[in-house]
Amino acid sequence: MWTRHGHSVSHRRQASEAEGTREQLTPSRSTLDSNDYDPVADIYDAYVRAEFDLDFFAAEAARADGPVLELMAGTGRVSERLAGAGWDFTCVDLSREMLQVLWRKAPEWEGSARAICADVCDLPLTTRFGLVVIPFHSFAELTDPADQRSAMAEIHRVLLPGGRCICTLHNPVVRARSLTGERELRGTFDLPSGGNVMELWVEASLDAVTRIAESVQTYRILDSSGEMASERVQKVRFALIERPEFEGMARAAGFRVAQLYGDYERGEFVSDESPHMIWILEKPADGGVWG
Ligand SMILES: C[S@@+](CC[C@H](N)C(=O)[O-])C[C@H]1O[C@@H](n2cnc3c(N)ncnc32)[C@H](O)[C@@H]1O
Repeated sequence: MWTRHGHSVSHRRQASEAEGTREQLTPSRSTLDSNDYDPVADIYDAYVRAEFDLDFFAAEAARADGPVLELMAGTGRVSERLAGAGWDFTCVDLSREMLQVLWRKAPEWEGSARAICADVCDLPLTTRFGLVVIPFHSFAELTDPADQRSAMAEIHRVLLPGGRCICTLHNPVVRARSLTGERELRGTFDLPSGGNVMELWVEASLDAVTRIAESVQTYRILDSSGEMASERVQKVRFALIERPEFEGMARAAGFRVAQLYGDYERGEFVSDESPHMIWILEKPADGGVWG
């Protein structure tokens, strides 16, 4: 059975209970500190087609001792694989529009699954999970260290004793090399409706002091004659989190670092080469914190 939950979310954004309606998420402050994916939810699947991590997460979910939770799930790129396998599965995202896209895929999924619109820093969950996953470097979109610590504490809280969290991050050394500030064409993608294509232009730069990157993403939608039909601009901010910084935060939240991989083939992390940091964190079996 698939269920959907609207939820009143935190101090950061608020969404009221709205079963099945397209209710707008209303910012609770004038400046949002979360990236807003609502304006690109309908085109996200056209330009994000990555599959490199799906087998990895499916294998980890198969080993999980208890229900599986995916955070910052978006339109369900990874959720589709996990929920489709029939595990007891929950996913969470802050963007109602991203979840609307996910919900449209849900009838094809098997097993018991549910999606919740909520902030990862303030999870409205009483269930306890054997595995929590945060794919696609999404944790880095929490650019405020206080938010990172809140999310980490929430993950620890919702895990069963002995449960694991898999958090994927950019390798800061490698990712920084591509933050040149130059505008470049990332790709041209077919859109599902009307024979239109979309160009994605990206201009990404790094603040050397704060280690926060800002990526200005321009989506140019072209009609069948190649004329521009419309344009959208999205700003995405993300933090380059260093290895000691993340490890310290995980330990402070009560985790042990069970593993750090540098890629989805489980290669060792090499600081100036590996494409990713794939952290596997463990909550102690007695349910407390590691001493
Ligand atoms: C890069 S997308 C990744 C989506 C999906 N995991 C994937 O692999 O395609 C990041 C997602 O994080 C969500 N997000 C950002 N801040 C959030 C927060 N504070 N709480 C929950 N979700 C958040 C966004 O709405 C967006 O869907």
